Amino acid sequence: MKIVTPSSTLREWRMQDASSLVKHGNNVNVAATLRDAFPSPYTPEDARRFIAMATGPTPDLFLAIDIGGEAVGGVGIHVLNDVKHRTAEIGYWLAEPFWGRGIATDAVRALVPVEFGRYDINRLQAGIFSTNPASMRVLEKCGFSREAVHKDAIFKNGVFLDEVLYVRFR
Ligand SMILES: CC(C)(COP(=O)(O)OP(=O)(O)OC[C@H]1O[C@@H](n2cnc3c(N)ncnc32)[C@H](O)[C@@H]1OP(=O)(O)O)[C@@H](O)C(=O)NCCC(=O)NCCS
Repeated sequence: MKIVTPSSTLREWRMQDASSLVKHGNNVNVAATLRDAFPSPYTPEDARRFIAMATGPTPDLFLAIDIGGEAVGGVGIHVLNDVKHRTAEIGYWLAEPFWGRGIATDAVRALVPVEFGRYDINRLQAGIFSTNPASMRVLEKCGFSREAVHKDAIFKNGVFLDEVLYVRFR
């Protein structure tokens, strides 16, 4: 899969991306607003394990944000299970030097119709840490609505944070 956005190309991960994944992912400022599944520190072994998983058999979708041939971030889709199987979560991150240029917004905006086309989902959601106004803004710019605040639902780096749920319906 390859999706061209105004500022990047979203494409499948390759094992050769491991070094750029470590270079950009090994950043506490990136990890601070992501789930603990995103390693910090981010080692070469973590990168290889992630790319093997992302390119192996998985119902989820993982794409690299590619600028100039370099993977500088990632976007992912995870469909929930059981009675929530018509709901998917979207996640994304971008290397810090590239923040503030609309790149994540372009990526999410381009991915939303692809997700609704690829999966039999009714709602697409993201749980944003209360400390992450930039990500809330990305979702607002992409037509998501602030649906709920889950008090103290996140425990990250030793601190409780609220989770702000954003949703976009089909
Ligand atoms: C969140 C993240 C993906 C944003 O990427 P980005 O490419 O810089 O985002 P964009 O440039 O598309 O848009 C950011 C918006 O937030 C705004 N913003 C940035 N910092 C802000 C702040 N502290 N308060 C309010 N708005 C802020 C920007 O002004 C911009 O909005 P605008 O276009 O209306 O001016 C990036 O910061 C990141 O990877 N962070 C670490 C990982 C992460 O948090 N991922 C999301 C988890 S759900």
